Amino acid sequence: MCAKPVELVRQFVYLLLCEFIWHYLTKLVILFVCFFCLFVLVFFSERVVPFLSRPTLPALLLPTGLHLFSSNAICRSLCLNCLYIGLYDPFCDLLPSFLIFSLLSLLFHFPVSFTGEHKSVNGWFDRVASIHSCLSAAQKVLQGKGLQGMKSYMQRQPAPQSSQGRNTQPCNCNPIEVSARLSEGKRNILVTSALPYVNNVPHLGNIIGCVLSADVFSRYGRLRGWNLLFVCGTDEYGTATENKAREEGLTPQLICDKYHAVHSSIYKWFQIDFDFFGRTTTEKQTEIAQDIFWRLHKNGFLVEDTVEQLRCEQCQRFLADRFVEGICPHCKYPEARGDQCDKCGRLINAVELREPQCKVCRQTPVIRSSKHLFLDLPKLETQLEQWLEKSTSTGDWTTNAKQITRSWLRDGLKPRCITRDLLWGTPVPHPDFKEKVFYVWFDAPIGYLSITANYTDEWEKWWKNPHQVELYNFMAKDNVPFHSVVFPCSLLGAQDNYTLVSHLVATEYLNYEDTKFSKSRGVGVFGDMAKDTGIPADVWRFYLLYVRPEGQDSAFSWADMALKNNSELLNNLGNFINRAGMFVTKFFEGCVPVMELQQEDKKLLALVGWELQQYIQLMDKVKIRDALKHILNISRHGNQYIQVNEPWKNIKGGDTERQRAGTVTGVSVNIACLLSVMLMPYMPEVSQTIRNQLNAPQSCVSTMLQGNGTFVCSLCAGHRIGTVSPLFQKLEADQIEALKKRFGGQQVFDPAAVPAPAAAVEVVTVNGVDPEKAKQLTQAVAEQGDKVRALKAQNAEKAVITAEVAKLLDLKKQLALAEGKSPEPAPQKGKKKK
Ligand code: MF3
Ligand code: ZN
Repeated sequence: MCAKPVELVRQFVYLLLCEFIWHYLTKLVILFVCFFCLFVLVFFSERVVPFLSRPTLPALLLPTGLHLFSSNAICRSLCLNCLYIGLYDPFCDLLPSFLIFSLLSLLFHFPVSFTGEHKSVNGWFDRVASIHSCLSAAQKVLQGKGLQGMKSYMQRQPAPQSSQGRNTQPCNCNPIEVSARLSEGKRNILVTSALPYVNNVPHLGNIIGCVLSADVFSRYGRLRGWNLLFVCGTDEYGTATENKAREEGLTPQLICDKYHAVHSSIYKWFQIDFDFFGRTTTEKQTEIAQDIFWRLHKNGFLVEDTVEQLRCEQCQRFLADRFVEGICPHCKYPEARGDQCDKCGRLINAVELREPQCKVCRQTPVIRSSKHLFLDLPKLETQLEQWLEKSTSTGDWTTNAKQITRSWLRDGLKPRCITRDLLWGTPVPHPDFKEKVFYVWFDAPIGYLSITANYTDEWEKWWKNPHQVELYNFMAKDNVPFHSVVFPCSLLGAQDNYTLVSHLVATEYLNYEDTKFSKSRGVGVFGDMAKDTGIPADVWRFYLLYVRPEGQDSAFSWADMALKNNSELLNNLGNFINRAGMFVTKFFEGCVPVMELQQEDKKLLALVGWELQQYIQLMDKVKIRDALKHILNISRHGNQYIQVNEPWKNIKGGDTERQRAGTVTGVSVNIACLLSVMLMPYMPEVSQTIRNQLNAPQSCVSTMLQGNGTFVCSLCAGHRIGTVSPLFQKLEADQIEALKKRFGGQQVFDPAAVPAPAAAVEVVTVNGVDPEKAKQLTQAVAEQGDKVRALKAQNAEKAVITAEVAKLLDLKKQLALAEGKSPEPAPQKGKKKK
């Protein structure tokens, strides 16, 4: 993987070394810079394999057989061996230390040994070290004085810009102290996003629920300096894939290959920065799933039973749960799937469905018996509850995750069948079940482990290390029971010290305008179409995160997206950053002016500091949507500050006024720099653009959010900024109308004919009336009404009642739509939080 960059490095180093002979000492600095860039190329063009504590490279094999992975440890070790050159202290970052390490080894023949994927670097070191010109260059640099020669030279050089900014106050504008929690040592954070089904193109709701939320949190965690690993991949087994294969006339494997690539490219476009995006159809998956299976078997947590299964005689096959539809036995929802009801969220055994239908041919399936294996959930229940008690009280579980889990346990656990009569799955290794494969919901979560294993041989350090690793699972709420009950039971029963989820982060649903996303009806924006809209990925990210269904369902609306783009991004955020930069350019020849802080400036900085603190606290708790509002608050404060202080007037005044204009400009542009850092998790590209425009030092990224999260001035007086230009574009009404038409869907009703829910009350006119659905919904509404009344009569928990009431309102709304009426204004929904 790194052969090419290494070759580049080799040739480049060779050239440099020739040069070095002629101008040796004076060129040392250039050599440093070049090395730096090249190592950035080598080690960041691929993902660094995350060992448990970063930094992971380089690895030094000591004569004692001990491996050192931390570059600081390596430098220290070298220095302890009487090689102290007075260098390691300022170089607290990985790359510079690594650079020193490389140089040292290059020049002085240290025993260097790289491990893992980077073994090929060893050969490079050997070759370079044996080049004559290299050796003679080393001799010239050292002048027979060994490292002392290099030390005295280096000490005459200006200190490099420390990327952590520690020990130094970059300039003398008073930092406003903001206290945020300090973490001793590094947190090892493992982030997963629910594995998307390979055979569907994900829609915006899928994207915000899992990968995008997990991405924002991962980016944030990295900014915070956590040692973080973010994995995801496609969920590839199961009947859905078999069917898709039949439809497209391909083998399941080819379908998976094809759609895995589709998913990858969508997430790439959205800039989802996985450490690794894998898949579940791998050998590692078979290996790990079968291992877990045998452990469960050995520990007595599997039971055998004969089950009645639905078989479609017409299609000549057993119907996987998802391929049978019928009336939910619990809530009477008419379109319940065989595994779960989308309405009440309960798990269903397919044979319990009333009026079941084969989803493929609409025939009524017959019941047939076959022997299967079950995970004995009742036997694991006590253990599970003990673990849950601890995890939910110490971790950050979203309210819906806790609620759904609690209601599951309250109903009592039943054994869950983990085998299926299918072809496309991980084979069950037990000789009595040779023809069967694992049920996807037993198999898929194991994908998290196998995907990690396909990424790094160190996977067990992440997955079998509950005391040192914190696991964050991101998903939509329908995935909760599998992650909070079923999968933890598999792992608990397997008894191999597995890492269980510490923070279960579940979103509610994102609707599309006033309806649901639906591939079959052609309603909604799907991942692959977003890029065809001409709207930049970062703006999509922004809007999806702005309406992230955090705590309650929310809706994607074109009109609202345009509104938020034009008001928040363009007029608020973009305007502030652009003005700050333009003042520096126009009034101060592109150099940050000297700042003399007045009471007013300090007040603003205190306010900004407070917003930063809120942002950090919320992000730490994965309140991604809420945290975003604090970024926008900062630019709002900033705009007001500029408006009140009128630097464009003061610049034309006397010395005092000009000084005032300078301070206001300097403070503003520093706040703009802070904003670029806070925006990084949300809008990575915009964040980078701002930092380019401001010519901001790399160090500002880590100084703001690591340590105590203090807002420090990172663009000092005299700092020259780059070229400033507008960050956002207006979304015009006609453009939005056209997009709405294009993505509206035609079959049920045309949302293009629906006025946008710009205000709190959504008025909907409906073209399509669906009497059949209306009949079913009338019944569902009646039953849900009964349920709510019963709960109220029993004095059930308030949260439970609220949830059921929300379902009732939703059903009523659906009913109204199906009857062609305007639905009652749905409380909360459509109300855009200001
Ligand atoms: N494929 C499932 C879905 O899209 C999620 C699987 S998550 C995992 O709903 F835990 F199984 F990986
Ligand atoms: Zn059928």
